[in-house]
Amino acid sequence: MGYEHILVEIDAPIATVTLNRPKVLNALSPDLILELTTALSELDADENVRAVVLTGGPTVFAAGADIGDMADRGPVDQLLRDQTGRWAPLAGFSKPLIAAVNGYALGGGCEVALMCDLIVAGETARFGQPEINLGIIPGAGGTQRWPRTAGKHVAMEVMLTGAPVTAQRAYEVGLVNKVVPAEMTVEVARRLARQVAEKAPLAARMAKEGVLKAFESPLSEGLASERKSFYFLFATDDQKEGMHAFLEKRKGSFKGR
Ligand code: CAA
Repeated sequence: MGYEHILVEIDAPIATVTLNRPKVLNALSPDLILELTTALSELDADENVRAVVLTGGPTVFAAGADIGDMADRGPVDQLLRDQTGRWAPLAGFSKPLIAAVNGYALGGGCEVALMCDLIVAGETARFGQPEINLGIIPGAGGTQRWPRTAGKHVAMEVMLTGAPVTAQRAYEVGLVNKVVPAEMTVEVARRLARQVAEKAPLAARMAKEGVLKAFESPLSEGLASERKSFYFLFATDDQKEGMHAFLEKRKGSFKGR
């Protein structure tokens, strides 16, 4: 499928998806969301792709939902098109997903970054939830993922003041994994993606599932689920390969089977 608002580059085993509406700072219009979630569903199904980098390019990640598109809508319009529920293929993406963020990641843009598994931030990155300035609140997970990631008080600060935090502060509160010079952001994210893509894909999938489960379940349930995934992985060829490669002092080669 050809896309108008995003670019998709596959360089197996990784892929890079770039938001591409620079004139409106990659504002997340319904068409962009449809393209992005369609592309992600395709990449999730593509066995040659083992990790994905999501970026907005060199200057901006995304300045949030498209305000022009929302300004005159009513609640029923919003409910019927389920604007923020449409992010499910991103939140439920089964492979490691790495956000490479330069410049503004605001509103829905910040929430998209928070749905990713790792975040590499350029020094210019700014993470914020300015919805309060528009008379609304975040609608794509911001009020839930910020406190689970950075704690209550930082979450309250960004929600209530609407002011973004710098890349360095985001690093200090555990929101991002690395801060790098802006011109290096995508490259560092790709390096991380390649590193992850060398690992056993089913193990990566279950590790990701396990960590996400920790946000959603009591400890005993999360531990039970982890144990099942752990035992399941002993049914895979990659477990045999990984352990025998270790014993034979060679590097494992994983097939995702
Ligand atoms: N929606 C639509 N258009 C947007 C936009 C958005 N979220 N953000 C920026 N743009 C447009 C601007 O209207 C402007 O268009 P024109 O050139 O046609 O005037 C263009 O992008 C460039 O923006 P600015 O001139 O404003 O650039 P700036 O550098 O002066 O400021 C900014 C940058 C601080 C990010 C500012 O654009 C801004 O505050 N944007 C809105 C951020 C925001 O409120 N995001 C939350 C949206 S609500 C949401 O996301 C809900 C949710 O949870 C799902």
